[in-house]
Amino acid sequence: MIAEEDMIVASQPGSLKLTINSPTQLWIEDGGGRRMGIHPIWLRERCQDTQSMDLLTGQRLQDPSDLDLDLSYAALSETEPGRLHVRFSDGHEADFAAGEILAEAALPPGENDVPAVETWTGALEHLPRAQWRANPSDADLMSWVKLFLRFGFIVFSGVPSEHHAVLEVALAFGFARETNFGTVFDVRSIPNATDLAYTPVKLEPHTDNPYRSPVPGVQLLHCLANETSGGLSTLVDGYAVGEALRARDPEAFRILSTTAVRFRYRDKVTELVASAPPIELDVNGRVKTIHFSPRLDFVPLLPPDELTAYYRARRVFDHLLRTPEFEIRFLLNAGDLVMFDNCRLLHGRTGFDPREGLRHLQGCYIDIDGPRSLYRVLRRSLAAQI
Ligand code: OGA
Ligand code: ZN
Repeated sequence: MIAEEDMIVASQPGSLKLTINSPTQLWIEDGGGRRMGIHPIWLRERCQDTQSMDLLTGQRLQDPSDLDLDLSYAALSETEPGRLHVRFSDGHEADFAAGEILAEAALPPGENDVPAVETWTGALEHLPRAQWRANPSDADLMSWVKLFLRFGFIVFSGVPSEHHAVLEVALAFGFARETNFGTVFDVRSIPNATDLAYTPVKLEPHTDNPYRSPVPGVQLLHCLANETSGGLSTLVDGYAVGEALRARDPEAFRILSTTAVRFRYRDKVTELVASAPPIELDVNGRVKTIHFSPRLDFVPLLPPDELTAYYRARRVFDHLLRTPEFEIRFLLNAGDLVMFDNCRLLHGRTGFDPREGLRHLQGCYIDIDGPRSLYRVLRRSLAAQI
């Protein structure tokens, strides 16, 4: 509870309040009445005066690790409504907008200031689809990037069936990531293929290039031609399957999230090796990145009973990935393009008969920070337009 002598400096309706208990206590209180002191170093690191920060770049001029670990508040006062003046024990004085402190305190950890992930299963009824437009408006881009961030993918139609048109879409969301396959790669059946993707065989759900470090964050596949009756695209939400595995078979989940597996790609001029658990978790234990490609994974030699447990776990996960319970299928026609989060979703295709005709996709990669940055910038510019 807020004591009589506490002064509310700023509050958000129904939630956080910033209070000072003069002269040396600064508190934040949530809607449920729980309150927490604001560490003086936390606030000192956020000083925006010219001594502390380069105003042009917004970057710190002083290494905060050099601050006194016993730093405290020497004096706190509200100079005008919503403005806080602070004198720290090392003599530094600074002014703050109380609302900005609250906004900063309210930020969830990590990158959760973008639209929340909405996991989906094979029952997903409406695919996140959009009609591509050259020179899209901010509102177009915002609606597309929101769909992509929520569902982990978006399917465009109307992308001109032209060589390298995939790059135009990629560059609307981020920067193309060049690899040994080039900036743009062709996915079509060719003789002497260096990758099974370049054959007509079916591809089970996989993430692309787990042998790279870091793995490509986002993949775009643009259909230039599909004259075959097969070659359907498949997608699975790895976050949904990961959570289903955690609930249904916790031991399999534990093994797949703690066993580092080696992935390798090798041709005449390239040898890429990376190691990661098939289900990589973040510091909060949430599924962060799926590294899964049944044609490329090599588990290290472990004692036989551990390997038996690993192989069982991998089978359970793989079989879940392949069930209609989780998988969606759709046909990409010429001019369609699918863009998906390669850390979250697994993709594949059904097999096709190249004698029926040509199936030709062009692909490229961007990093996931591109769409996230785009969302934040658009949020700023659209808010300014109101
Ligand atoms: C790939 C791939 C899918 C397809 O090239 O990595 O998975 O539809 N292609 O051909
Ligand atoms: Zn692939």
